[in-house]
Amino acid sequence: MANNHQKIIFSGAQPTGSLTLGNYIGAIQNWKALEQDYQCLYSIVDLHSLTVRQNPKEFRETCTSFLIQYLACGLDPEKNIIFFQSHVPQHTELAWILNCHTYMGELNRMTQFKEKSQRHKDNINAGLYTYPALQAADILLYQTNTVPVGEDQKQHLELCRDIAMRFNQAHGETFVVPEHHIPKVGARIMSLQEPDKKMSKSDENLNGTIFLMDSEDVILKKMKRAVTDSENRVVYSDEQPGIKNLITIYSTVANISIDEVVARYDGKGYGAFKKELAEVIIEALRPFKEKYDNYKNNMDYVETVYKRGAERAREIAEGTMKDVRSKVGLLPR
Ligand code: TYM
Repeated sequence: MANNHQKIIFSGAQPTGSLTLGNYIGAIQNWKALEQDYQCLYSIVDLHSLTVRQNPKEFRETCTSFLIQYLACGLDPEKNIIFFQSHVPQHTELAWILNCHTYMGELNRMTQFKEKSQRHKDNINAGLYTYPALQAADILLYQTNTVPVGEDQKQHLELCRDIAMRFNQAHGETFVVPEHHIPKVGARIMSLQEPDKKMSKSDENLNGTIFLMDSEDVILKKMKRAVTDSENRVVYSDEQPGIKNLITIYSTVANISIDEVVARYDGKGYGAFKKELAEVIIEALRPFKEKYDNYKNNMDYVETVYKRGAERAREIAEGTMKDVRSKVGLLPR
């Protein structure tokens, strides 16, 4: 449990498909670094994924797999509170109240809503539209100080701050107004096939995305096919977006600076660079794969982790909700 001075961190990922190298570099790698000094809550935000139609059986499997992937990434369930969003009903309760403090004009501006409604033209549902209010509830419920995310979540975080300030102004100090924590390098890992588009779990072109669960062969193949250019020089420049993205990946996975990567491949061509980058990724993911298999064979433990996580999360969330209910004028239960 957090002591009074310990800062609170909250973040989450939507369980659709499987975790990508983008999710790892932009978010999870940084989550892990925070667990020593902060009280961190990491959620699998399953309710958010329902904005897209899911097959129930497959969805349950995906959610479980995400939890195991969190653990396999090294997130320690003793230090962090790891849980499924839907196991803490206060998220949806607060989301409704925050919906009533969010303007349609604000939701209309959300680029993720615009993109997703383009992609799912036959299912532009109200959940997709009010998604940012649920995201704000996720964060504000825990009096979160800092939210470690990739660049694409910045707009949602700014809206979350606006909602928190508006609520505090209307009802008196209730929520901590959170800051985002976006990494300097790796905040937006791009598709290996279309380097002007972010690497995404739901990209139809599977060659564009490296999944943490990909086999060694697949990683090697995807890396070989990664789109570059005809320069054949490992240079970090906007003119060479494909190679720039690969250098960023190298730097963040190997934990060395961009300059060091460039110096290491000075005078060498793309062939050697891509092959060695694939090896760096494969090496970094080896412990992930071993841990994944171990947890998968120990489902009783996995279940204990998420049940205990939800219990701890509910306790904190209920503290905030008691205050919120009273502030908006709901009668005590
Ligand atoms: P999601 O599930 O799309 O992504 C999870 C995290 O991974 C980051 N990320 C990336 N970072 C760098 N490069 C990429 N190509 C890349 N792709 C994804 C995301 O920025 C994110 O940090 N709406 C959120 C989930 C959410 C959430 C929250 C996050 C719901 N409630 C509260 C933080 C706090 C989402 O869809 O993330």
